[in-house]
Amino acid sequence: MSESPGLSASALLYERALEVLPGGVSRNTLLRRPHPLYADHAAGCRVTDIEGVERVDFANNMASLIHGHAHPAIVAAVSDQLKKGTAFMLATEVEIRFAEHLLSRNDRFEKLRFVNSGTEAVMTAVKASRAFTGRAKIAKIEGAYHGQYDYAEVSQTAGPANWGSVDCPSSVPVAYGTPVGALADVVVIPFNDSERAVAVLNRHKGELACVLLDLMPHRVGLNPAEAEFITALREWTKADGALLVLDEVITFRAEFGGAQTWYDMTPDLTALGKVIGGGFPVGAIAGSAKVMDVMNPLADNVLFPHSGTFSANPITMTAGLVAMELFDEAAVVRVNALAKRAVDGINEAIRSTGVSACVTGGGSMFRVHLQESPPLNYRQISVLPERDRRLTVLLDHLFDEGLMLINTCSATISTPMGESEIDMLVSAMKSGFEKVMATDG
Ligand SMILES: Cc1ncc(COP(=O)(O)O)c(C=O)c1O
Repeated sequence: MSESPGLSASALLYERALEVLPGGVSRNTLLRRPHPLYADHAAGCRVTDIEGVERVDFANNMASLIHGHAHPAIVAAVSDQLKKGTAFMLATEVEIRFAEHLLSRNDRFEKLRFVNSGTEAVMTAVKASRAFTGRAKIAKIEGAYHGQYDYAEVSQTAGPANWGSVDCPSSVPVAYGTPVGALADVVVIPFNDSERAVAVLNRHKGELACVLLDLMPHRVGLNPAEAEFITALREWTKADGALLVLDEVITFRAEFGGAQTWYDMTPDLTALGKVIGGGFPVGAIAGSAKVMDVMNPLADNVLFPHSGTFSANPITMTAGLVAMELFDEAAVVRVNALAKRAVDGINEAIRSTGVSACVTGGGSMFRVHLQESPPLNYRQISVLPERDRRLTVLLDHLFDEGLMLINTCSATISTPMGESEIDMLVSAMKSGFEKVMATDG
């Protein structure tokens, strides 16, 4: 029996986890003090932990679940496929059907390949860009998260001590031991600042394979990119012969054809992931047939040989196809309207309590910042200890009120939600703001 009487079931599990997993977790984002919570089961927009506590899930596994949990149509389709086999050294029809579906959502997508994660999708897009252009370097936005590929993660955690001048941001490693060569091959540009970004890019004319861009980067404040910024980057890349690669791993949920349909431009490649997997690990790269053809194994000279043991496995393909067919135009409009209701309600709570806070976001995702005006770039969002303490007060309060958010105080809407869940969030935000103000001292 238990050697630590009095500890909760979760605390006991965490003691075991600490023996076998570094830090007791497989994903740092799950770490909570004094211990992570452990899921028992979930349905729709509600998750129940092993202590029997049910919460409304606005985290949606880090923005990856558009239909919440255990959607009956996905469960039924995947259960059927499970009985037929999970992965083969044979292709499957469902992979073609799913590719056809995704291409039909956006006419900027001419060809597509599946991989297993957003990290892999971004990595594959970067490697395809290098193969197409014959160039090694990439440019990316300071602070933006694109997964864990050495190049794509540069400067994701930069701070005042090492980020350098705003006119020439330094390439800062995330992991110790990142090859110096990787850092030298990444050019860091500021978000939504065309003048400075183009000035930096101009110092690397003819060197860049691509500019990698998330249209509403979460870690940079979850502000949509300004149209003028996108135009500047599209024009610069076109003139220079570099590619424009969009990371829509999160933002694809924002519109039927992704957040890129907000803008009058065509990227060369788009990395996809998260919601398109219907709850299973997934990634995809979609874009111009000419660029995607660097992966064509039928070519005389295959510029970028590409494969993956579990890529396009029929479980992910089945779940993804069912999920995305259900996420039709009407469903997109509905979740976006629910997000607007939440943002309007939270803004009203900010006004009525007088708390120093603001909300950013777009589509079905938003983020609450405990600062008066929205951060415009990564340097304005870097967490100050005082802001961090207040955020913890707010997040703990929401948690106690039965609401799960992403630990940046970001929320995503899923289709099983209705107005009552939104109103519950707004009301808990309001009492949370009052608590934050009461602890300000
Ligand atoms: C914008 C963006 N790109 C890429 C990734 C990496 O995706 P994955 O965790 O599936 O590797 C993430 C994950 O949060 C992301 O938010």
